[in-house]
Amino acid sequence: MDYFQYKNNVLYAEDINLLDVAEKVKTPFYLYSKKTILRHFHQIKEAFKTIDPLICFSVKTNFNIEVLKILKNSGAGFDIVSGGELYLTQKVKASPQKIVYAGVGKTADEIRYAIQTGILMFNCESIPEMRLMDHIAGKMNKTVSVAVRINPDITPRTHEYIITGKKETKFGISIYEIDKIIRALRTCSHLRLKGLHFHIGSQITETSPYEKALEKVIKLVPSLRQAGFPVEYFNIGGGLGIIYKKEKVSLPHKLAKKIIPVLKKHDLKMIMEPGRYIVGNAGILVTRISYIKQSLNKKFVIVDAGMQTLIRPTLYTAYHEILPLKKSIKTFKVDVVGPICETGDFFARDRKIPVVHQNEFLAIKGAGAYGMVMASRYNAHPFPAEILVDNDRFKIVKKAQTYRDLLT
Ligand code: LLP
Repeated sequence: MDYFQYKNNVLYAEDINLLDVAEKVKTPFYLYSKKTILRHFHQIKEAFKTIDPLICFSVKTNFNIEVLKILKNSGAGFDIVSGGELYLTQKVKASPQKIVYAGVGKTADEIRYAIQTGILMFNCESIPEMRLMDHIAGKMNKTVSVAVRINPDITPRTHEYIITGKKETKFGISIYEIDKIIRALRTCSHLRLKGLHFHIGSQITETSPYEKALEKVIKLVPSLRQAGFPVEYFNIGGGLGIIYKKEKVSLPHKLAKKIIPVLKKHDLKMIMEPGRYIVGNAGILVTRISYIKQSLNKKFVIVDAGMQTLIRPTLYTAYHEILPLKKSIKTFKVDVVGPICETGDFFARDRKIPVVHQNEFLAIKGAGAYGMVMASRYNAHPFPAEILVDNDRFKIVKKAQTYRDLLT
């Protein structure tokens, strides 16, 4: 069930007429469907329920406080990568014992803050980081739980910029350095090894890269246990892909079938860090058409959102479906572009979209993950509003910024 559907030729989100919203709220704005968020979260939970997984929503995909609240109230934990994200999880009163903290560049201040908060575990990404954590924990008179993020040297099929499990990337500690890891753990008396972690990339549409990574990394478990480190958790990261265009995606239950038996066999509890899968298709970006411009050999639909609002097309040449809020049957071939003074400021190039006119509205789909969180204020455009739809109600959950906000 897609909660973004045309009814009487108008695009709806759940039971909300989006034309009504667009007439009331200044564009551009992001809009999220609560039902979609919950459906995706529960799909994952259901798929893995026989091993009672800890599903840590990856805050980096969408840190709107109401989105975090919805997930927290459904029992989600959180995967964080900064002190700022930790702060937001605490604002929604998330249990620290459901928080895992990854990232290659955690600062001493961030480490201290997370230890003080009492998070479940850090995902350590290097030996120098383990040493700094050990030092800080010692000073604070604490023992700190860690998982080691293993770089399994796996290359999933996805955009080059979002592959993270290949040996050339900066993430994790190489699978080939297990001896070094054991030696380091032996000297870090304030760290307790609780688990292993990998995150091989994002927008992964097949299960095979997970299977390969798991097959490689699981072999470390007996060695670590033998060395006296009772590994308890296995964290398979995030990465589950979604449909932007016509991708064939592997659904959570397919992944579960492959993962569950392996974890059961090794008596491991599972953690997972999905982000995009939960919120990606739960969000759209609504924008007003400022002009239709016919140039020599191209037609441009110029809208009031741009690369400052949603940077994915510019950064990864990512495809996002574009729909008019008022359904239209005929199509024309256009570039959909923003107002920013960069040629890379586009949402679509040479794409056939339904015929639209000046002052009408477009919805850019698949914008719930890595949308607002990657927005900037380039060319001094204040941040847009964020709206949450719940059945037949909608609420502005973050106000648009004003020009005055540009001063701070
Ligand atoms: N865990 C870790 C350690 C991560 O680095 C990430 C994403 C996730 C979980 C969540 O992955 P997901 O389930 O959302 O695939 N900005 C890019 C994606 C960057 C992904 C960064 N890491 C994009 O817009 O495609």
